[in-house]
Amino acid sequence: MPCFDLFPTKIWVEELDLDVSVILDKIIDNGEQRTDLVGIDDLSQALKDKISKREDLELPEMYLHYWVNYNKPGDSNYRHHHTDNAVFLSGVYYLKVPEDSGRIIFYDPRVRSLGAMSDNKYYVYEPEVSVQAQPGMVVYFPSWLEHGVEPNESNEDRISIAFNLINKDELDRYKDMENFCDQKAIATRPDGRVEYFTT
Ligand SMILES: [Fe+2]
Repeated sequence: MPCFDLFPTKIWVEELDLDVSVILDKIIDNGEQRTDLVGIDDLSQALKDKISKREDLELPEMYLHYWVNYNKPGDSNYRHHHTDNAVFLSGVYYLKVPEDSGRIIFYDPRVRSLGAMSDNKYYVYEPEVSVQAQPGMVVYFPSWLEHGVEPNESNEDRISIAFNLINKDELDRYKDMENFCDQKAIATRPDGRVEYFTT
């Protein structure tokens, strides 16, 4: 009997052609964990270059909106998404992933309806999919796709750079956010973490 998978959700796993140890040396400055990527000009371009492209569509011009995650032993990232009209694609680039430091988990956005259905076992329903990251790996995913990170059960920090690639044309629509386009714009999240905008 023909069978069709409807509504697949794509994520993309790639490897950047960059030296992870060089990036780590830059962001951990004399033992101090920096939150910016000053001096790592090629990372933004590398993240844009590895996007899966469609032959019939031009990629938009993009800003890189990023934040560095230092997940200490015991830390985890609660389930969340990055949904915003201006986000073209979201992702995470991994720099340091000790064993047992937690996998990233993606959640089926239909879970609230499907989870309650008695037929979901018959259809081998998987409400969560985990991905084991490696240093140098980048995972791209749609901004609306919910995800989280398991607790870091190792004795070392797990270090990654999370990002949104912002569609410049879409961002222009947000007139009240105009100043965020300035390369030096800095924002502070409610939890105190610092975010930057750059080209
Ligand atoms: Fe995230």
